[in-house]
Amino acid sequence: MQNLKSDDTMFPKTRMRRLRQPGIRNLVGETELLAKDLICPIFVDENIEEPEEIESMPDQYRFPLSMVADEAKEIEDLGIPAVILFGVPATKDEDATSAYDDDGVIQQAVRNIRSKTEDLLIVTDVCLCEYTTHGHCGIVDYANETVLNDPTLPVLGKVAVSHARAGADIVAPSGMMDGMVRAIRTALDIDGFTNIPIMSYSAKYCSCFYGPFRDAADSGFAFGDRSGYQMDPANSDEALRELELDIEEGADIVMVKPAMPYLDILYRVKSTYKMPTAAYQVSGEYAMIVAAGTRGWIDRDQAVYESLLSIKRAGADMIITYFAKDAARMLRENP
Ligand code: PBG
Repeated sequence: MQNLKSDDTMFPKTRMRRLRQPGIRNLVGETELLAKDLICPIFVDENIEEPEEIESMPDQYRFPLSMVADEAKEIEDLGIPAVILFGVPATKDEDATSAYDDDGVIQQAVRNIRSKTEDLLIVTDVCLCEYTTHGHCGIVDYANETVLNDPTLPVLGKVAVSHARAGADIVAPSGMMDGMVRAIRTALDIDGFTNIPIMSYSAKYCSCFYGPFRDAADSGFAFGDRSGYQMDPANSDEALRELELDIEEGADIVMVKPAMPYLDILYRVKSTYKMPTAAYQVSGEYAMIVAAGTRGWIDRDQAVYESLLSIKRAGADMIITYFAKDAARMLRENP
């Protein structure tokens, strides 16, 4: 090497680029996106007879109970291993009683899907916000406009058990109440569902990127915001403390949400705890890519692929994404 320095201009500088040639580039690729990494959300609405497109999430639909199993079958046929269900119930009240009704929207949807699919895993979102008149994720003290932590826990336990009884494979609490994982684990174990894993939305940030979801699931809130329970976007160490508690309480899979604006958190979480880690590419992330793609400002397919690959590279073992079907189709055509 030292001799080369004497007349540097004579020698080619090519080094890193050798491995970027077609074919070789794939051989040395470090991260691979696979259909088996994806979890596809489904919105089920008890109040409708035909699918309804969600305005702020083009190409995404709320499905009636009568059609949810067909949708799930289509997802399974694309090689996607799991769905996560969100419900829009026929009735809401202050205490979210329709969330744990054995004939509630999710419980019925789980049974319908189970009857028409083979190995598809059914994950259910365990939260109260879609089932409460006030739209908050817990039991509310109206006088003080606060969401009560401890009174919410037994309700979440009942919701999880009713989902398990209907046949859910994994329950996913998303309400960010302290102690929710332990409450759900205890409730499941008492009812004999010791084999049902908990996927906890452990590091769920208080994010504007959930906006379109609240249209989709009709879960906007009557007062305040969710900053009293969801995490402050300014914080990163706090995510690790949340994770530690959730793991202690019995979480089997942990989650970071949203995904793209929080890849640093995802990386820290995965490298610190080495837990099975999910990331949620949320409704606002979906809407941004779709909106820019529709205008021709970015290439939609490439943006879908690159965003999902980045989320996987940062540390996600699995990704909840509204692009699951698109991505699975793309990966099938162009593996
Ligand atoms: C329910 C819940 C929300 C999301 C998933 N579960 C909404 C919220 O917390 O306001 C958001 C998902 C998305 O934006 O795609 N608590």
